[in-house]
Amino acid sequence: MKDIKKEIAAVIAGAVEGLDAEGVEALIEIPADSSMGDYAYPCFRLAKTFRKAPPLIAADIASAISGSPLFEKVQNVNAYVNMFLSKEEFAKTTVDEVLEAKDAFGRSDIGGGKTVIVEYSSPNIAKPFHIGHIRSTVIGNSIYKLYDALGYNVVRINHLGDYGTQFGKMITAYRHWGCEEDVRREPIKTLLSYYVKFHEEAEKDPSLDEEARETFAKLEKGEKEEVELWQWFRSESLKEFSRVYDMLGISFDSYAGESFYSDKMPAVLDELREKGLLKESQGAQIVDLSEWNMAPALITKSDGSSLYITRDIAAAIYRKKTYDFYKNIYVVASQQNLHFQQWFKVLELMGKEWYKDCIHVPFGLVSLEEGTMSTRHGRVVFLEDVLNRAVEKTREIILEKNVNTESADETAKTVGIGAVMFQELSNNRIKDYTFSWDEVLNFDGETGPYVQYTHARACSVLRNAGADIEKLAAGHIDWSYICSDAAYGLVKLIYRFPETVAEAADKFEPSVVTRYIVDVAQGFNKFYHDEHILTDNEDERNAKLLLTFAAMQTIRNGLALLGIKAPEKM
Ligand code: ARG
Repeated sequence: MKDIKKEIAAVIAGAVEGLDAEGVEALIEIPADSSMGDYAYPCFRLAKTFRKAPPLIAADIASAISGSPLFEKVQNVNAYVNMFLSKEEFAKTTVDEVLEAKDAFGRSDIGGGKTVIVEYSSPNIAKPFHIGHIRSTVIGNSIYKLYDALGYNVVRINHLGDYGTQFGKMITAYRHWGCEEDVRREPIKTLLSYYVKFHEEAEKDPSLDEEARETFAKLEKGEKEEVELWQWFRSESLKEFSRVYDMLGISFDSYAGESFYSDKMPAVLDELREKGLLKESQGAQIVDLSEWNMAPALITKSDGSSLYITRDIAAAIYRKKTYDFYKNIYVVASQQNLHFQQWFKVLELMGKEWYKDCIHVPFGLVSLEEGTMSTRHGRVVFLEDVLNRAVEKTREIILEKNVNTESADETAKTVGIGAVMFQELSNNRIKDYTFSWDEVLNFDGETGPYVQYTHARACSVLRNAGADIEKLAAGHIDWSYICSDAAYGLVKLIYRFPETVAEAADKFEPSVVTRYIVDVAQGFNKFYHDEHILTDNEDERNAKLLLTFAAMQTIRNGLALLGIKAPEKM
């Protein structure tokens, strides 16, 4: 997209001696009140250079640039130069760019093919894939799409929690009370019930804990029976996870989870020892972090078994070696802030300068209206159940409202699942929020269904016009028909899409895109209501149809960055 700020800065620097374009560009603002212009240049800081009062400077600059074809009007108000773009020129530039790029509108090659790792979802196997997991899964997926759109080469990793002492408990529980058939029929719910039972029983009989520890030690040593059971739990769990990923339309390039690093830990231990970083503490091996006011990093337990943090260190080193990443991004709950601070510090102490390229992207808690969840007590809401319920409820609404759709089933899936994802991506990620059915399925307001519906409305306008967009775009267009507040306001919004994508990626914040597409949807609806698009005046109709197409395409591309589909009818 043409960078308007840059162009304005060039015009000002070209017309006024003593100003350089870069310095001007840095100061140009977009006034909150559009009656003060599309762009404004404040002259306060120029008093020294020009030895004049800022309002006088502003007046000089305004008259020097007012002849530029870029502007329709230039005014000075106090110390500001207020610039009104030539609407026709701006509308033409913006809409042409969308028509040219289509699905690629918003994409760029800022990333230059550099490799970025995005690690997300990463559930624990043999444990429920619950509503809490939606956060990392959906936010991470959108961050992947944002970086992909910016021309980075993105590697998507699911760092499965498929290792650790809990598997000692699980195997022990299975041996005492397990039933193979039950596990095959309903793996996670069954394994979860064993886990719950284990904790109940272990309270009465602590020797179970001892047995579980020994079992995990055997698993770490690679003993056949333990490994086989563990592998079976893992593959059954993955089957369940995949069902949910399919529903969400999410995939990964690698499922290298914690277990993948079990044979890579001894080398890490050696290196830590060599560098004099390991200390013994009550039989355990730690890295002392007291100098940085952090609890020590526990590297191995007294029985020699490895820990979560050790596997993270091994994984980061492996990833640097394998992918030579430019950035290594972890989309993980803010509850783990300390964990990431600790092991990033360990990498730094190991002399791995690239620790700076490891980024923890935290997010807040999701809670339930009925109270908190607890895996140990079996109080969980399964993500799959939530998605199925969203689809079911959406289906009811579709049938009730007699929605125009080719397949009620397909639309219910797209809209129901889209609604859940959209709400997940609506708030700043760091905010805690309470999952509420009423809000997810509130189809009015700033929701996924509202945006999807607006997109379908634009599609239907284009369909009804029977227009051939390619042919229109190639012909002469009279952009003076795109000058009303509603039409021009919509153009201004569309223009901002590429910079919105860059900002969202920069902040690791998909909600920047979510809020933006709500604005575009509202902008289109205002245009649709205020103006007659399919008028008899052909020139007017053609210009408005192209704007409609551009709005439709922008909403569609924005939804795609959130991982949400945009149905053409609904
Ligand atoms: N499996 C962990 C959990 O469910 C999340 C893993 C986060 N990623 C990491 N590299 N530590 O809490």
